[in-house]
Amino acid sequence: MNTSPCREHIAEPFLIASAPSMMAVLTAATKVAAGHSKVLITGESGVGKDVIARYIHARSPRSHAPFVAVNCAGLSETLLESELFGHTRGSFTGAHRGTIFLDEIGEMSPRMQALLLRFLENGEIQQVGADSLSARVDVRVIAATNRDLHTMVQEGTFREDLLYRIKVVHLHVPPLRERKEDNVRELQNVIEQVISFATDAALTVDDLPHSIITAAIGTVTRSRERRRQVADDIYDALVSGEYDFWREVQPLFLNRDITRRDLREVIRRGLRASAGSYRTMLSLFHLEGADYKRFLNFLSAHDCRVDFREFRSARPAPPAERPAESPLPYQHQPYAH
Ligand SMILES: Nc1ncnc2c1ncn2[C@@H]1O[C@H](COP(=O)(O)OP(=O)(O)OP(=O)(O)O)[C@@H](O)[C@H]1O
Ligand SMILES: [Mg+2]
Repeated sequence: MNTSPCREHIAEPFLIASAPSMMAVLTAATKVAAGHSKVLITGESGVGKDVIARYIHARSPRSHAPFVAVNCAGLSETLLESELFGHTRGSFTGAHRGTIFLDEIGEMSPRMQALLLRFLENGEIQQVGADSLSARVDVRVIAATNRDLHTMVQEGTFREDLLYRIKVVHLHVPPLRERKEDNVRELQNVIEQVISFATDAALTVDDLPHSIITAAIGTVTRSRERRRQVADDIYDALVSGEYDFWREVQPLFLNRDITRRDLREVIRRGLRASAGSYRTMLSLFHLEGADYKRFLNFLSAHDCRVDFREFRSARPAPPAERPAESPLPYQHQPYAH
C-alpha cells in the first residue's frame, strides 16, 4: 500500500471467499457496511484487510463519498499528523462523509493515538497550528493492523481507551493457510516464482514449488475421501430403503449436489455387491424390474454407466442374466475404470 493517502471513489473490490471462515468474514462485512460503526480489521499480512476495508466502504451508504487510506506506519509522526489533521485537505477533512482507512494503526505513536482518540470522542479535528477546534467532520473510521493490539495494551504501547473506541466491530481475517481455497497472494507468489525459475517456454509440474505439489496431493486425497464418504452414504441409504433412487438420488444428481464421479462410485459399489449384475443391483436398491431400462438409460445419458465386466471375475453371474445385459441396451461402449 502507498505511504501517501489516496482519496478515491472506489468500485467494489473483487473478493474471493470460498472458505467458510472467509465467507463468515464477508457476511459480517456486508452487514456492517450498511451502518456507520467503526471497524477494526485484524489479520496477518496479505490476508486481505485492505480489500475488506474497501469492500465495506463500497457497500456502505458512504460509497459516493471518498475512501481515504492512510498508512500510519509509512509516515513520520509529524508527517502523519499533517496528513491527517494538517492542511485544509487533511485526510479527515478530505474523507468528509466518506471513509477513512487507518492502516497499520498499531504503529501509531502515543501522541498520534491521543489525537485520534480525541477525534473519535467528539468528531472534531484541530488542525495543526490552529488555536481553536476547526470543523466537525463526518467520517467513518476503519482501522487495520496485523499486530495484536490487546498484547500491545498490556505492554503499554497501545491505549486501551483507543482500542475500545476503534473496535466497535471487529473483523478478524483468517490466515491464508487455514483457507487454502482462497490462497490469493500465495498463488501470485507461486506464479511469479515459477515464471522466474522456469527455463523452458512451457511450464511443467516440475517447475512448481514442492509445497504446492504436496498441497495439491493433499487436496486430491481429501476430495477422494469425500467422494468415498458421499458414495458410502448414498449407497447405504439406497440399500436400506431410506433413499429411493428416483425420488432422492436423481434430484441430487440433477441439482448438482452430487457429481458424476459420486454417482459412478455408488454404481461401482452396487456392482461390487451384485458381482457385476445391474439387475441384482436394481433389486438391492429396491427398484422394480420394470425400471431396468430407465435406470440404465439414465446412467448412460449422464455418462455414469460403469462397465460391469470387471466386477464379474469374483463370482460368475447367474447364466440367465447374461443375455439381458450383453449386448448392452444402449449405444455407448462400456468403459473400464
Ligand atoms: N479474498 C480476496 N479476494 C481477492 N483478492 C484478495 C483477497 N484477499 C487478498 N487479496 C489480494 O491479495 C493482496 C493482498 O491483500 P491486502 O492488501 O488486502 O492484504 P492486507 O491484509 O492488507 O496485507 P498487509 O497487512 O500486508 O497490508 C491484494 O492484491 C489483494 O487484492
Ligand atoms: Mg494492507
